[in-house]
Amino acid sequence: MGMLDGKVALVTGAGRGIGRGIALLLAREGAAVVVNDLGTALSGEGKDESVAQQVVAEIQGFGGRAVANTESVADYAAAGRMVEQALEAFGRLDVVVNVAGILRDRMIFNMTEEEWDAVSAVHLNGTFNVCRQASALMRQQGSGRIINFSSVSAWGSPGQPNYAAAKYGILGLTAVLANSMAKYNVTANAILPYATTRMIDSTPRGQEFARVHGKPPSELAEGTEGDPANVAPMVAFLATDEAAGINGHFFGVRGYTISIYSHWELAAVLRKEGGWSPAEIAEVFPSTIGPLLDLPEPVELPGHDRPVRGTAAMQANPSSWREIAPGIQLWERRVYYDAKR
Ligand SMILES: NC(=O)c1ccc[n+]([C@@H]2O[C@H](COP(=O)([O-])OP(=O)(O)OC[C@H]3O[C@@H](n4cnc5c(N)ncnc54)[C@H](O)[C@@H]3O)[C@@H](O)[C@H]2O)c1
Repeated sequence: MGMLDGKVALVTGAGRGIGRGIALLLAREGAAVVVNDLGTALSGEGKDESVAQQVVAEIQGFGGRAVANTESVADYAAAGRMVEQALEAFGRLDVVVNVAGILRDRMIFNMTEEEWDAVSAVHLNGTFNVCRQASALMRQQGSGRIINFSSVSAWGSPGQPNYAAAKYGILGLTAVLANSMAKYNVTANAILPYATTRMIDSTPRGQEFARVHGKPPSELAEGTEGDPANVAPMVAFLATDEAAGINGHFFGVRGYTISIYSHWELAAVLRKEGGWSPAEIAEVFPSTIGPLLDLPEPVELPGHDRPVRGTAAMQANPSSWREIAPGIQLWERRVYYDAKR
């Protein structure tokens, strides 16, 4: 008995990395899977149909049900054909996971229009295309699960203006889906993952690792915390009937860690009857909202190219963690601020 017996899922970018791990786990939990992957290079160039077909063969190898789709999510009509393929092959579509992605990293002042367009086309337009096509069906059937892939790069990764903007856009789109589709029993949530895939191989840290170890990190990830398969359980959970009440949230999933972001909740409100002058804001801001901007000094951590900031720096303090059950640790931002008061 799997947690997804009888369900049908479409996973984009499911031929490699995180998407592959998701397709395999959804199938092991009993879902029939449309395995979409264009089979491109990391830059989005080229096409290789065997990438999706290989994952289909793996799923069929353990007795699961899957079909390959090798079209691009950047093509609106092709996204429609992905949904139709699920209906033709398996008779329904319950779960959509948008994982497909590429990188064209460049500093903003050097980025070409083509680099901007290529990344937006796959991430933001691609996620829209598949969500748009699938949501019409889910609205009709009165049920569905949508899980979109964003990234912490959205918070401002310096060399990724195209990728960060698209990934922030995906959060906005996910929030809209959550609010507009709830009445049709459709949930939409986003994942901000981290896993040692070829995306990580392309970073300066990944390249340094390859120089020292003679192999890119992704080739040594299997069975470690960085194994992309570790992102899949949270996605599979969100796809189940048990997760019906979880809607419109952004989860970080990194190795053995599952996090929730609360950045869109109000942290404090200042109100002055009749309105403000700039000088009045300058006077009260430092002692009211100001302390909330007061993040710890960046700290150096092993395995990071540069000092970590923000909540990652807060978590570096071991005493900010609580053991809530043997082997299970909990860190909460609230506790950090309570301790500062
Ligand atoms: N690896 C990480 O640490 C990390 C961190 C943050 C976000 N992400 C996001 O997670 C997702 C998966 O990343 P990954 O590291 O597994 O990458 P990956 O490169 O290993 O896999 C991405 C897959 O998407 C496919 N693809 C690319 N363009 C496509 C298109 N137009 N249509 C269909 N398929 C296409 C590729 O062929 C590839 O197999 C991406 O959206 C990525 O931006 C990854």
